[in-house]
Amino acid sequence: MATGRIGFGGETGRETGRETGVETPIDPVIWNDWYVLGKSADLPAGGVGRSRLLGTDLVLWRSQAGVVQAWRDRCPHRSVQLSKGRVEGDRLRCPYHGLAFDTGGRCVDVPAHPGYTAPPQARAQTFPVQERYGLIYGCLGAPAHDLVDFPEWDKPGYRGLIAGPYAIQTSGLRAIENFLDVTHLPILHADILGSPQRPEIADYEVQITAAGVAAHNIRIWQPDPYGTGSGSEVAYDYRVARPLAAHLRKPNLNGENLALLYHITPVSETECTGWMAMALNFGAEIPDAELIAFQDRIVAQDLDNLGSHDPARLPLDPAVEFHLPSDRTSLAYRKWLKQLGVTYGVMI
Ligand code: FES
Ligand SMILES: [Fe+2]
Repeated sequence: MATGRIGFGGETGRETGRETGVETPIDPVIWNDWYVLGKSADLPAGGVGRSRLLGTDLVLWRSQAGVVQAWRDRCPHRSVQLSKGRVEGDRLRCPYHGLAFDTGGRCVDVPAHPGYTAPPQARAQTFPVQERYGLIYGCLGAPAHDLVDFPEWDKPGYRGLIAGPYAIQTSGLRAIENFLDVTHLPILHADILGSPQRPEIADYEVQITAAGVAAHNIRIWQPDPYGTGSGSEVAYDYRVARPLAAHLRKPNLNGENLALLYHITPVSETECTGWMAMALNFGAEIPDAELIAFQDRIVAQDLDNLGSHDPARLPLDPAVEFHLPSDRTSLAYRKWLKQLGVTYGVMI
């Protein structure tokens, strides 16, 4: 990466966000939450990258000391993209007139005027940022919650991997609902995550609690769930703790467990970026690239379908679409979103 500049998911190159900032009123539940902006491994010390969150273009950069920053991608002097600049120690220098900003966003060097004290407005717009699970998280507002828990990631014996980013042309809420939708597995993912010959979904339990939505023991017949060459029934457990983050646990009788934490970064009301963090305690012989390629293959099957939703925004009114008994996780998710007061990405 010779330039140190990295492309992250969520870039659309659209002009609107850069020129005017956020145009759509965004509900506080979505606004004051953490979203994935990039992978930690893609932003080395001294690196500069870009992301786009809720209509706002962001510059990501990491100081030479390793501190990651997420700022609005706009120089406060003449409003060009800071992501075209470069890192110098613990400063980001704008490519236009060379103003340098420290990790607090303050302008601390003006090449045209040595010793000049920049006015208070000479400050880049900074946002809360943190790293966990191999991911960089940012929030445009005031974070109202901790990051979603991913207990398997740090467990002894588990190996963690990140798949994505995936550019998805629909509401982020539709993308999460698709992750929770087991009925499509034997059809859209025929002969991989299910079999058209065994498409039945038995009844299962779903709960809405203060912690979110939880669905347990959803049994699905899969053609080769453990790589042994024979089919068997598996059980999925879902936990949705935030509107745009869902956890799936797929254990088997031998104690082997695959856990996925699916994060959606809302780019606009009808565009989003998917990131799949995986943790598994088996398959040490399977190369990372193979596990990631498997997720890529599944998501590729979903993408075209997800882009065809009309409306792209998720309807929370149960009368707009009809529902099957096996859709009860989706229904609980929609009900919970309504209880939370989510409106961004929702069909009103
Ligand atoms: S526009 Fe950034 S230094 Fe002038
Ligand atoms: Fe799918």
